[in-house]
Amino acid sequence: MKRIDKTSSLIPQVERGTLIKIFVDGIEIEAYKGETVATALLSAGITTFRLSHKHKKPRGLYCGMGICYECLVTINGIHAQRACITPVEEGMQIETCKELEL
Ligand code: FES
Repeated sequence: MKRIDKTSSLIPQVERGTLIKIFVDGIEIEAYKGETVATALLSAGITTFRLSHKHKKPRGLYCGMGICYECLVTINGIHAQRACITPVEEGMQIETCKELEL
């Protein structure tokens, strides 16, 4: 998945926030202020946010609005944060694919 970087007559002009850096599993990626963690992860090509507890199956964005809890990640050491409703912040440390104890 990739961010739209050009506009056309079919797509309204996209206005982005300030470009910032965040870290996903120790790797620096770019994000824009105002985006959610989920958006930044998907834009970086990361679709597996965690593994299911029982069967270790990949989980990622599903409802995209904070209801299903499929997108849980660890943010700045705090477990089980919903990536789809958490805005990115400069220097944020995100860990994916951890077995999250709820
Ligand atoms: S995708 Fe459903 S809570 Fe985040």
